[in-house]
Amino acid sequence: QAGLNRVAKAAGKLYFGTATNPEQFVDAPYLTVLSNVHEFGQLTPANSMKWDATEPSRGVFTFDQGDKIAALAKKNGQLLRGHNCVWHNQLPAWVTDGNFDAPTLSSIVETHCSTIVKHYKGQICMPYILFRLHSWDVINECLNDDGTFREDVFFNTLNTSYIATALRAARRADPKAKLYINDFNIEGTGPKSTALVNLVKSLKKQHVPIDGIGIQAHLIVGEVPSTLLGNFRRFTALGVEIAVTELDIRMTLPDTPELRAQQKQDYRTVIETCNAVRDCVGVTVWDFTDKYSWVPSAFDGEGDACPWDANIVRKPAYNGIVEGFRRR
Ligand code: G3I
Repeated sequence: QAGLNRVAKAAGKLYFGTATNPEQFVDAPYLTVLSNVHEFGQLTPANSMKWDATEPSRGVFTFDQGDKIAALAKKNGQLLRGHNCVWHNQLPAWVTDGNFDAPTLSSIVETHCSTIVKHYKGQICMPYILFRLHSWDVINECLNDDGTFREDVFFNTLNTSYIATALRAARRADPKAKLYINDFNIEGTGPKSTALVNLVKSLKKQHVPIDGIGIQAHLIVGEVPSTLLGNFRRFTALGVEIAVTELDIRMTLPDTPELRAQQKQDYRTVIETCNAVRDCVGVTVWDFTDKYSWVPSAFDGEGDACPWDANIVRKPAYNGIVEGFRRR
């Protein structure tokens, strides 16, 4: 077998990776594939570095779950993407219900970001120049689909200032980590991706550190936007790198050979697009097997979104990824 990370690197990309959770490490067949650096050169914690996991009460930090993923990545020679510093979801109640005034919440954001980013600060690994931590999703899902800002506790208290606060804190904490804004429904052109372009432009104008745009890519079989390539290029034209950070392509069940063939084609399209854009540095799937996909619990009657099935056997989508990287 080719190995997805191997073909990605042969195509000039930095990595092909996957999200994971430490609870799944007890599953030996899963762990074997996860640890195969020819398949995955990068890991993202699906939940372990989120606010509820890392600062469950104010000023009390716990890194045990995230450390398990960082340790595995180090052992396997895999890069790490940090996920995430500021997000409206999976927030502990002390943040959402704290009724903090603006200066207090701003300092809470700053402390949270700088503490977790410092904890995972890049350590030189593997031969020479690779840093164990490649990037952080500092800001996650700050926009609505219509391009307005999401009215979460951060925006409602601080307007957009929390974005610069978080990015600056992350830069100070680990100057070598690439700092990303990560979102969904920004794969193709539309009001949300345009709003993100404007946000990045305005951050750059204010000299706020921003290195990358994370394109989540939770897609639907047969519905890959036709404007991917132009939109990816519009992002990199801003002078930032991009990455596909949470790829999965779900279908309405039951799975059929036709749906699997379309899914293969759709994976190939996404990979080809990243491959065609020099500053698209890598692709991460939001777990590689249907056994642990978040999709069925979030979308009734949908699933089978990953390149490996629930028995950890490769699906046609796997070859779609390989073909996408081999096409130059
Ligand atoms: O930890 C509790 C556990 O104590 C409890 O028994 C169990 C019962 O349901 O729930 C557990 O929490 C779950 C958590 O995952 C950890 O497993 C939550 O219910 C569940 O909602 C949560 O789902 C995560 C989801 O983010 C939350 O929005 C998914 O695993 C995770 O894959 C998903 O990841 C997000 C990215 O961070 C951002 N982009 C979208 C992506 C998919 O939603």
